[in-house]
Amino acid sequence: MADLATSYMGLNLRNPIVVSSSDLTKTKEGIIRCYEAGVGAVVLKSLFEEQFLIEEDEEGKEGLIYPEALDYLRRGGLLEYAPEKTCQMIEDVKKEIDIPVIASINCQSPRLWPSFARQLQKAGADGLELNIYFLPIGLDSPGKEYEEYHLKILNEVKKAVSIPVAVKLMSQLTSIPNLGYKLARAGCDALVLFNWFVEPDIDVKNLKTSNLIGKGNFYQSLRWVALLAGRVDCDVASSGGVRKAEDVIKQILAGASAVQVCTILYEQKFEVIKGLLSEVEAWMDEHQNAVIDDFKGELSFKKQELTFKGIGEADAYFRAQYLKTFAREK
Ligand SMILES: Cc1cc2nc3c(=O)[nH]c(=O)nc-3n(C[C@H](O)[C@H](O)[C@H](O)COP(=O)(O)O)c2cc1C
Repeated sequence: MADLATSYMGLNLRNPIVVSSSDLTKTKEGIIRCYEAGVGAVVLKSLFEEQFLIEEDEEGKEGLIYPEALDYLRRGGLLEYAPEKTCQMIEDVKKEIDIPVIASINCQSPRLWPSFARQLQKAGADGLELNIYFLPIGLDSPGKEYEEYHLKILNEVKKAVSIPVAVKLMSQLTSIPNLGYKLARAGCDALVLFNWFVEPDIDVKNLKTSNLIGKGNFYQSLRWVALLAGRVDCDVASSGGVRKAEDVIKQILAGASAVQVCTILYEQKFEVIKGLLSEVEAWMDEHQNAVIDDFKGELSFKKQELTFKGIGEADAYFRAQYLKTFAREK
C-alpha cells in the first residue's frame, strides 16, 4: 500500500493535500472539518491588516471604519497587534488537531508583516504563508520595484520568526523563475503558485463596475510548478483549479511538494478529500510508487531536461504558440 506521507516547507504532512487560505479555514470549526476530512495541512484565512474593516463589515454595522480612524489606529500602533481572536483560535485549534497549521498574512504597511508574523508564531502556528499582493498600476513604477518589495517583506519576516515561511505569488509577475530563485536564496521555504483574485466586470445596462469571483487556473499553475520545481532551492506548492485526483497526481509529477485545494471543497463538500486520497494511493500502487518522492517532479522541466526523454518533451512547459503545435500534428 502506497504511503502518502510527505514533507512540505520542512513540515511533516500525512499527505500532500492542503486546504488553501480561504473562508473554509477561518474558524476553529472549519479547520477541524478540514482535519477530519483527512487533509495534510491547512492554511488559515489571511490575516489582513485591515482586519478591523472586515470585522466591522461582517457584523453588518453601518458603513466601514473611516480612513481617518484607521490612520489613528496606525499612528497609535494599535494595528501592530494581530487580532486576538485569530491568535486565540490558533492556540485552541492546535490542542485538537495534529496536522500543521499554516497562518497567512496580508498587510499594506511593510512594518506590520514581521509584527503579525511574530504574534502568529507565538500563538502556535507551524508555518506562515505570506499572501503578497499588490496590483502594479503605477505608470512610474517599474517591475523591479514590485519584485524587490517581495524580498523586503520576506527578509523582515524571516528575521522575526523561526518557523518556516512560504510566499504565495500572483501570476502577473514578469519573471517568476528569477523572483522565485531570489526568494529561495533569501530563505523562503516554499513558493505557492498562485493566488486567486476577484475579477472586475462591467454592467453595461446600469453602467456600473462590479467584482466577480475569480477562478484558479490549473494549467497556469502546472506550467510554473514544473518550470520552478527542483530549480529553486525551496519547495513549490500548487494552488489553482484542482478538481480531481488526476490533477493532484499531475501537480506532483510536475514537482509540487503540496497541492492546495479550495474551490473543490465548496463545490463538492469535504467528503471529496477521502476520494482524492484513495485515488492517488491506487494510482501510486498501480505505478509502483511506494512513496510520494518516487514520482515527485518526475515530469518537471528540470528532470525532463536532465533525462532528455526526447526532443519536445521538456518544451511542453514553455511552448505557447498554437502554430507550432498544429504544424507538428499535421
Ligand atoms: C472564498 C475564498 C476566499 C479566499 N481567501 C483567501 C485569502 O484570504 N488568502 C489567500 O491567500 N487566498 C485566498 N483565496 C484563494 C485560495 O486560497 C486559492 O488560492 C484560490 O481559490 C485558487 O485555488 P482553487 O482553484 O482551488 O480555488 C480565497 C479563495 C476563495 C474562494
